[in-house]
Amino acid sequence: MSTKSFPDGFFWGAATASYQIEGGIENTDWSKAATEGRVPTCGIACDHYNRYIEDFDIAKSLGHNAHRFSVEWARIEPEEGVFDHKAIEHYRQVLLALKDRKLRPFITIWHFTLPLWFSESGGFERKDSPEIFARYAAYIVKQLGDLCEYFSTMNEPSVFASNGWLRGSWPPFKRFALTDMVAITNSGRTFESKAKRGMGAVITYLQVMRNLANAHNAAYTEIKKHAPKVDVSLVKHVIVFEGTKNPIHQLAAFLANHFWTHRFMRRVRKHIDSIGLNYYFYKQFGDKRIWRKTDMDWNFAPEKIYEALKILSVYKKPIMVSEGGVADHDDSDRAEYIQKQVEGVWRAIDKGMDVRGHMYWSLLDNYEWALGFEKRFGLVEIDYRTLERKIRPSAYVYKEICETNSVVEYK
Ligand code: BGC
Repeated sequence: MSTKSFPDGFFWGAATASYQIEGGIENTDWSKAATEGRVPTCGIACDHYNRYIEDFDIAKSLGHNAHRFSVEWARIEPEEGVFDHKAIEHYRQVLLALKDRKLRPFITIWHFTLPLWFSESGGFERKDSPEIFARYAAYIVKQLGDLCEYFSTMNEPSVFASNGWLRGSWPPFKRFALTDMVAITNSGRTFESKAKRGMGAVITYLQVMRNLANAHNAAYTEIKKHAPKVDVSLVKHVIVFEGTKNPIHQLAAFLANHFWTHRFMRRVRKHIDSIGLNYYFYKQFGDKRIWRKTDMDWNFAPEKIYEALKILSVYKKPIMVSEGGVADHDDSDRAEYIQKQVEGVWRAIDKGMDVRGHMYWSLLDNYEWALGFEKRFGLVEIDYRTLERKIRPSAYVYKEICETNSVVEYK
């Protein structure tokens, strides 16, 4: 019997995002970019829009008690200021299906894809983007708040802005020449042939980051006016930067953590009830070790989630691990990855950090943005020809963790 138990009521589950699994979403910046050949086509994806019942049955059978998903802005507000009640009704059915299965819902209000009317008119470069976003976010909570207590306004603003405005690998494909030297997560090919060298590109990026923070804050304020009791969080992607003992490497790590995580968190810290942590990435400056790699070519470092939690714990808010997972096409590493990650979360709680739950990324294989469907993150494998779902062996290891509410030792 493991003595490494989690607190009672700990949330265990998996996370998903609408665009990556639902299918049939055609009025976004990403679908437009696909028609232009700049990113892979998403198409019907996993057809989760029509198969959510089957997928939630699987999650339930795997011992989960919670589920994180996102609603699709372009479905809900297909034209500026015009809200589609049918889309809301769909997500109400989704929430009821989760309730029937005692899967506690965690909604992400916006996960990367933008409605075309918004992206085409400047998206988060627009000065009024905070108000536009806040109106949408408040609408979601008004419509769904009776069925859900946990809302995250946005997913990973730093990844969204750096891939879109520095790396140029995601819409709107703006690329700053110098960023080619720095690898930032989830990138894929870069499309804009001429990378901008001037500081103008960086200034726009910084404005987008500011608008995103203001958008979160405005959404928080607007939501709280109508629904003071719901828990409103921000989902932050944390890269754990460390240095060797060399002071230069230490300084580089300090600055990188500042620019990637703390700069944004300090802008929103007064407008969060809790924080979502997405952890995938560990980097040590001056590192000479040869790392084992995941299918994304990222260092295999699940245990470093402990450090990621520590980075966020300075904000003194409850933390939910809203994502963490591995691309592993033959499922040979996933069970180990999960066990080590979960053990890292347990150590954090043991040291007094307030962690409330753990969502594996992802329930299903899905559309991995500019990398298409090739990368396999799912507890459940998708056959994209037949859309058949097949539970991977590692999902049963996670099931044991969820059901025993404890760390299962790695065999
Ligand atoms: C994102 C997901 C993505 C995952 C794996 C996270 O940064 O929230 O949408 O699929 O990482 O790359």
